[in-house]
Amino acid sequence: MTDTNNPLLRARGAAENNSADLQERNRQWWEHLPMTYADWDSDERLPQTVEDYLQIEKTLLEASPFLRERYDFSQAKGLTMLEIGCGSGALSCRFAREGAQITAVDITDAAVAMTQRNADIQNVSLTVQQEDAEKLSFSDNSFDYVFSWGVLHHTSDMDQAFREVARVLKPGGRGLAMVYYRPSVAYYVHGLYWLLIKGKLFQGDTIHTVQRHYTDGYHHRYLTKSEMKDVLGLAGLKTHAQIVTQYQKKILPLIPKFVDEFLKNHFGMCLITEFEKSRSQ
Ligand SMILES: C[S@@+](CC[C@H](N)C(=O)[O-])C[C@H]1O[C@@H](n2cnc3c(N)ncnc32)[C@H](O)[C@@H]1O
Repeated sequence: MTDTNNPLLRARGAAENNSADLQERNRQWWEHLPMTYADWDSDERLPQTVEDYLQIEKTLLEASPFLRERYDFSQAKGLTMLEIGCGSGALSCRFAREGAQITAVDITDAAVAMTQRNADIQNVSLTVQQEDAEKLSFSDNSFDYVFSWGVLHHTSDMDQAFREVARVLKPGGRGLAMVYYRPSVAYYVHGLYWLLIKGKLFQGDTIHTVQRHYTDGYHHRYLTKSEMKDVLGLAGLKTHAQIVTQYQKKILPLIPKFVDEFLKNHFGMCLITEFEKSRSQ
């Protein structure tokens, strides 16, 4: 794929042409390519029908063994919840179906519109509004639980976003965030492939900058477990558990299943961290 045909680079170029502000570029990138689990270069990325919306939830859960098999959505029953970066609203609607009192927010109008439509179609009750994770409009101590899946490594100032998470959580409140994991096959193997085989090294790219050719978002950080713990600690949040996982398809071609499982659990792309705000805060 040439650079001009690469939809991720086109979204980046458009955002850079339109604004010098780093968070505005983040917003514009996602307005350009809303998250719908459709191919980035598909002309039909936006869900239209009931079936399209339900298919997004199915694809998301099929792609994520952690959410499908290990995460207990029913714990949401009766909780006041905030989902940051709701995208199409698939997971917010799922939490609403489980009985959560959920507020879904996203930095883009496109995501707010999709989430509202998704909730209407499924006839579930939620509140959805456009918000920047770095300056949430909610009062201190508003929520029992904050959930954010694949979002906060894309924001311009991640430390500030987690300070906001800590601020809006009630004392003793809990949360879960998934961000990209750095010691992962995606970061190193794909990075080296693009650098060496695709020749981006000779055009001035590094293992970090080359990600823009294959990773979503205007900003895309990959964190280690201890870096993520530090970000949470700085915000005043205590890390409980950290799990590494990967989307379902094979992590590398032509490897046996047990190697695939091992690599996913140790070098998968997704770092999931469960955290808590202390009762005394
Ligand atoms: C990879 S998508 C994930 C969407 C959804 N969580 C899912 O799993 O389908 C990232 C989402 O985060 C949103 N986002 C990025 N930065 C944000 C910010 N600072 N505040 C709120 N939403 C943000 C984007 O608009 C986009 O919808």
